[in-house]
Amino acid sequence: PIVPLRPLLEASNKYKFAHGAFNVNAVAQAEAVIEVHEMFRSGAILQAADLANGFMGGRKDFMNATLEDKKIGAKRIADAVRKIGEHSRIPIVIHLDHGKDFDSVKAAIDNGFTSVMIDGSHLSYDENVELTREVVKYAHPKGVSVEGELGVLAGVEDHVFSETSTYTNPMKVCDFFRKTGVDCLAISYGTMHGASKGKNAKLRKEIAIASMENLRHEGIFGALVSHGSSTVPRYIVEEINNYGGDIQNAYGISIDELMSVIPFGIRKINVDTDIRLAVTRNIREYFLENPSKQNSDSIGGIWSIMDNNKSAFDPRVYLTPIMDTVLTGNEPDDDVSAITDCI
Ligand code: G3H
Ligand code: 13P
Ligand code: NA
Ligand code: ZN
Repeated sequence: PIVPLRPLLEASNKYKFAHGAFNVNAVAQAEAVIEVHEMFRSGAILQAADLANGFMGGRKDFMNATLEDKKIGAKRIADAVRKIGEHSRIPIVIHLDHGKDFDSVKAAIDNGFTSVMIDGSHLSYDENVELTREVVKYAHPKGVSVEGELGVLAGVEDHVFSETSTYTNPMKVCDFFRKTGVDCLAISYGTMHGASKGKNAKLRKEIAIASMENLRHEGIFGALVSHGSSTVPRYIVEEINNYGGDIQNAYGISIDELMSVIPFGIRKINVDTDIRLAVTRNIREYFLENPSKQNSDSIGGIWSIMDNNKSAFDPRVYLTPIMDTVLTGNEPDDDVSAITDCI
C-alpha cells in the first residue's frame, strides 16, 4: 500500500533502525526501488526532488522548472507509483525531497505525494519555523507527513549551493519540533550533497546525540534525517572512468560512519548521488560493450535482440540499465542496500 512517512518513522524509532530513502527521476527507477524493497521485505521511501518533479513534468532545462511543470511531474510520478504500489505487500512512501516553497509543496500534496520536505534551512530561524508550520498545517489534515530542515549542508542542493556547512544547533531542535509539528528533521552534522564529500568525512555524532537527548527529555517524538549520505562506491567511480568518464575527487560517507549514527536517532538516510553514479556507469558500459553494429536495413528494437544483433540505437534497450542499476548495481550486503533495513 501507499502510506505516509510517519508510520515508517514510528516503526524505525521503536526498533532503532534507519530507512534508506532513494531519489528517483524516472518511473523505471521507482519500479526498481520498489522491487528491491520487496526483495528485502522492507518499507520503501521513494523521493523526488522538487526539480526532479519539474524534469518529470517534461521540463528539459529542469533548473528553470515552473510550478506548472512541477505539478505535471508530481502527478505523473505519483500516479505511476500508486499504480505499481497499490497492491504491493510493502508500505511505500512517495516523498517530496527539498521542497522549495509552500506552492511547490502544495503541488506535490495535491497531486498524490504522501510525504513532503519543506526546506527552509536557508531562511532565518523564525522564518523557517513560520514556513514549516504553514506546511504542516496544510499537510497533516490530509494525512501527509512533513520533514523540515535545520542547519545548512555544504554542496549542491537542488536550488541552493553552499560552500560551507552550518551545523544544526541541537539546542534548537526541540523548539523546532514543538513549534512546527514536523514528523522528522534533516540535520546538518557533517554530510554534504554530491560526489565530493572529501576524504574520510566524519560525522559529528554529538549533534544527533544531543538532539535526541533533548527530545527525550521533553517527551517529544522526533526522528532525524541524514541527507547527503551517498557512499560513492570507489568501484563504480573507477568503472565510470574506465568507460570514458572523468570523475575526480569523488568521496562519499563510509557505510561504517552511517551505521554508527543509527543508534542516535537517524531514521531516514537520503541517497541520490549513488543512484546517479550507478546509472551513469551502466549506460557507459552498455555503449562501450555494444558499439553501433546496427545494419541500416535492420528494424532494430526487439527484433534485433531476438536475432542477437544488438541494437545500439534503441532506447528500449539502452535505457534498461536505468532499471538494472537499482536492482543489480549493488550486492545485497553492499552499499545502498545495506542501509535499507527490514521492518
Ligand atoms: O538534495 C537534492 C537532490 O539530491 C537534488 O536532486 O538534482 O535530481 O533535483 P536533483
Ligand atoms: P547524496 O548527494 O549524498 O546522494 O544526498 C542525497 C540527498 O540528500 C537527497 O536529499
Ligand atoms: Na537545505
Ligand atoms: Zn538532501
